[in-house]
Amino acid sequence: MRFLVIGSLNVDMLFHVPHIVMAGETIQSGGLKLSAGGKGANQAASMGKAGLPVSFAGKIGGDGIWILDLLRDYGVDVSQTVVSMDIHTGQAIIQIDGKGQNSIILNPGGNMEFTTEEISSILSSFEEGDVLVLQNEINLIPEIILRAKDKGLRIVFNPSPFDDGILNYPLDCIDLFFVNEIEGAALAQTEVAHDDMGYKAILERLSNKYPKAGIVLTVGKHGAYFKDLSVCCYAPIVDFPVVDTTGAGDTFCGYFLAGIYMGKSPQKSLELASIASAYAVSRHGAMQSMPTIMEVTG
Ligand code: RIB
Repeated sequence: MRFLVIGSLNVDMLFHVPHIVMAGETIQSGGLKLSAGGKGANQAASMGKAGLPVSFAGKIGGDGIWILDLLRDYGVDVSQTVVSMDIHTGQAIIQIDGKGQNSIILNPGGNMEFTTEEISSILSSFEEGDVLVLQNEINLIPEIILRAKDKGLRIVFNPSPFDDGILNYPLDCIDLFFVNEIEGAALAQTEVAHDDMGYKAILERLSNKYPKAGIVLTVGKHGAYFKDLSVCCYAPIVDFPVVDTTGAGDTFCGYFLAGIYMGKSPQKSLELASIASAYAVSRHGAMQSMPTIMEVTG
């Protein structure tokens, strides 16, 4: 079984600020730092660092090649990534406040320029039983889901960033969802929850709506849940000092999949992913902050 991420790769422009800038306000940052990111590339990095056999297929310009080199160092096969000198790599402008919380503006670049032919070529190297991991930062997602399903791939979907168009995607084909509390509520078409009872109600609604799928619901400092037809479990966060939450959800996703792939239960996989995310939030950057499997398992 192999893992394939078709997804975004971004040059993250990090600005450390005293608080997230408000409408009409101008503030000074502590300086600009360029860092490797993009939800797709981050999740592939997390899976690579966790030891999974993973390929990353993105679409970038020459300005993103340094990030492919990093991904290779993390054990990710990047041979399926389309590099074109006619486009620029996606960019993310990220403000990080004094508590490590962020706000992000995306400039999609190559992430939104996949063609049907490129998707066919990428998928042709994968077969029944392989696992496709998708987020919502590239174009052609509905088509990718349907083609992958036709080939017998299992499909993991992190509907982030969420937009209402997602509700029209062929989501019955999804085997595993990763959502945070806001995405979970949007997908379940209900109010955002704020406590255990509310989170469980959202899980229940999502399970009823997508009965064949497993659901991972991460709820920030309140921990993470997993639910499918046979199991419902929970793991609290591991409390490390927070300096930068960018990429924490992506770290969680990669390590949860690694746990399941290693044969761990959903409960143990949540716990593994919680430790990995704790390391990630305690360091700066997205994929560069992610721990290796050696750090996580001690
Ligand atoms: O999930 C974090 C990522 O979101 C950042 O690396 C940024 O590039 C955006 O894609």
